[in-house]
Amino acid sequence: MLSGMKRLTVSLASGEYPVYIGKNLLERLPALLESRYEERRAVLATDSFLAPRAGKRLVAAFHSAGWNIRMAPPLPRGEAAKSFACVERLCGFMLKSGVERRTPLVTLGGGTVGDAAGFAAAVFQRGIPLVQVPTTLLAQVDSSVGGKTAVNHPLAKNAMGVFYQPRLVLCDVALLRSLPKRDFLSGMAEAIKYALVFDSAFARWLDRNWSKILRRDTSMLLRVVYTSLAWKARVVAEDEYDLIGRRELLNFGHTVGHALEATTKYRHFRHGEAVAWGMRVALALSEGRGWMSSIKERRLSTNLLNKLHPPVWPENVNFSRVIKYLRYDKKRRGARNIFVLLRALGRPARVTSVSLNELRRALTSIGLR
Ligand SMILES: NC(=O)c1ccc[n+]([C@@H]2O[C@H](COP(=O)([O-])OP(=O)(O)OC[C@H]3O[C@@H](n4cnc5c(N)ncnc54)[C@H](O)[C@@H]3O)[C@@H](O)[C@H]2O)c1
Ligand SMILES: [Zn+2]
Repeated sequence: MLSGMKRLTVSLASGEYPVYIGKNLLERLPALLESRYEERRAVLATDSFLAPRAGKRLVAAFHSAGWNIRMAPPLPRGEAAKSFACVERLCGFMLKSGVERRTPLVTLGGGTVGDAAGFAAAVFQRGIPLVQVPTTLLAQVDSSVGGKTAVNHPLAKNAMGVFYQPRLVLCDVALLRSLPKRDFLSGMAEAIKYALVFDSAFARWLDRNWSKILRRDTSMLLRVVYTSLAWKARVVAEDEYDLIGRRELLNFGHTVGHALEATTKYRHFRHGEAVAWGMRVALALSEGRGWMSSIKERRLSTNLLNKLHPPVWPENVNFSRVIKYLRYDKKRRGARNIFVLLRALGRPARVTSVSLNELRRALTSIGLR
């Protein structure tokens, strides 16, 4: 085992898979895969930013390990990758490249690449092995683990998708050096989510070490990614298919977050930025019910959310538009949206009884009219 490399296992009814977390791991991927794929063939999906950078390095590493790997034409950057058109193009490339049912598809990129290429891996010939190499903080702390894949519909984020678990996930925190600050903070929003929902000690640690985290010290990044993914792995193991309400807790901040993303056509906010606003709303809703009664915990939660600095919404976004998009939320039951609120720090509750008035008050509290 490499020094400094950590390993988590995601254990599911259908089997388990490893998650490797460390620094400068990218070039080790062929060695980690070797025992599983003796044919040494693979296909790589990435986006147009990463293709000439980490993409090129990864292809070179596979070639020097004697693999036949082909890089698919790059996906566009950002949410544009999460479309049927892109998935179809990727499948076309795989058909022409002679990809077979045992050939792994390696994804290299942020959550958008992972979600779209993961979806392609799930549907191509009814499923080929998927290997996730997340390159954004958001993908390393969240989206690469757990098997949710999806493409967007103009009316709703992630409207079409399937559960499809990867065979292996490799998080190289060295890749996070080049991430723009905006994307880094977007990923920190998801890390803060785990802290508020499950782990008050992690929340205090994040608060204490915030400036070192922003400097991207390796030891800090390793702890942020490891702690977050340990929670994700645990929750996914308990509720792989989002059926018993446990996995839904990971949706803290996402009900309003997804509506903000959809109403701005997925172009205005990074995912984590919209979730940052959504978490503020969730906190306001919790406080409105008399929950989160400890002043210390309220202050800590607010402090953490204040560090994220999400951009404000465009002028045409208002209360009624957000409400309209809430109607398309996947998590809706009947006429009710499901909100994850906090009884206290680290004590989440699923709530279906949020009234329009409560919601209006909470949205007003973040400045949405
Ligand atoms: N499947 C899940 O469980 C899950 C969970 C959370 C979020 N998501 C999805 O993830 C998506 C957001 O992912 P994201 O925030 O990673 O966005 P992203 O994939 O669009 O990446 C953000 C930007 O960073 C660039 N980039 C990627 N790696 C880089 C690097 N190392 N250095 C510099 N730039 C780099 C990309 O080219 C892109 O422009 C959303 O669509 C969201 O719905 C999925
Ligand atoms: Zn999210």
